[in-house]
Amino acid sequence: MKWSDKRRREEFPFFCYREEIYLDHAATSQRPQRVLDAERVFYEKQNANPFRGLYELGMEATDAYERARKTVQNFLHAQYAEEIIFTRNATESLNLVAYSFGCHFLKEGDEIIVSIMEHHSNLLPWQMVAEKTGAKLVFLECGADGTISKEQLDFAFTERTKLVAITHVSNVLGCQNPIEEVVRRAHECEAVVVLDAAQSIAHRPVDVVLLDVDFLAFSGHKMMGPMGIGVLYGKKKWLEQMPPFLRGGEMIESVSRTGATFAPLPHRLEAGTVNAAAAVGLEAAIHFIHEIGWEEIRSREEELTAYAMNQMEAIPEIHILGSKDPKNHSGILTFTVEGVHPHDVASILDADHIAVRAGHHCAQPLFAHLNIPSATRASLAFYNTKEEIDRFVDCLKPLRRKMGYGK
Ligand SMILES: Cc1ncc(COP(=O)(O)O)c(C=O)c1O
Repeated sequence: MKWSDKRRREEFPFFCYREEIYLDHAATSQRPQRVLDAERVFYEKQNANPFRGLYELGMEATDAYERARKTVQNFLHAQYAEEIIFTRNATESLNLVAYSFGCHFLKEGDEIIVSIMEHHSNLLPWQMVAEKTGAKLVFLECGADGTISKEQLDFAFTERTKLVAITHVSNVLGCQNPIEEVVRRAHECEAVVVLDAAQSIAHRPVDVVLLDVDFLAFSGHKMMGPMGIGVLYGKKKWLEQMPPFLRGGEMIESVSRTGATFAPLPHRLEAGTVNAAAAVGLEAAIHFIHEIGWEEIRSREEELTAYAMNQMEAIPEIHILGSKDPKNHSGILTFTVEGVHPHDVASILDADHIAVRAGHHCAQPLFAHLNIPSATRASLAFYNTKEEIDRFVDCLKPLRRKMGYGK
């Protein structure tokens, strides 16, 4: 089904209330009405603490939460519902693997491969594991277009490689990494792969069985779901061996004065009261994505990205980071404007109600590698329009003049 521009926009109440041209989808997406409704209806009609109330309402809340888990399982094509652990966000999911897997199964002399383009959320946890275990971090460098070469992979993988933590799509360059090749090489050396899918999950179907990754992390809020809900997928064989990350209510089998035994998966890794309303909202976002269809999302995003890139490239002082191919941007256009600080770019755009992000985008090692201090990022979603891009480009054109650079 082809949705009209108008129909797409009408799904998002945000656009009824705000004049904003929202080009910061990679930071957090807007939410369709049905996601907001799903959360509200949970609180209005099903609100009870899941797993705790043995009364009917409590069981309804539990059922709603577990149904959301099943929906995520199907969305990722995972084999078992217990392989889906709800967290607060991608950062917490990655920390969970780092603490419960990395700190327990890695040792001095082991090597952890990360790419230079990792978001800090998929770098700092591995720095911590290296510090605690004596394992060493090995970086996969990339070219200016984000490509990780075969030579880089040949260099990085050794018999000491025990874990690879890599992003599916860079939050700065928008490029997609060669995950199939990384997984193949990792499994050849019996290393596990942790995939950060925070930036891919809203843009393309992800099949954890086909990709054969060992762990995968994402946040609900970047895929039109609520804030405060994230997912860690893990192969059952690994999750079963991992000690709990957090301890407390609802993750135990029995507790004595001196110790405890723990509940089976997934509850062993979900201590405390869960965010059931957000899980239900995430489920609604997944249904919404399926209703629009991946093909519609992909083709619309590519069309808008190509449209924006064409016009931006016509402005000589603007330099877009990453690939020349709009298809390898996942809607992310990070750019510099000669002589203008990215914070000034963002402020000038903001004065025209255009929301973009400026700075190092939580990827300081990548900026150091590219030898660029910081940049501005416009990130598009399928619900943006060509008119919005025209207005964005119209604001970019006089930008240098506004900063006192003559014409
Ligand atoms: C690639 C990538 N990984 C991880 C994260 C962290 O996501 P969150 O802040 O939702 O935990 C982000 C957020 O921007 C990201 O872009």
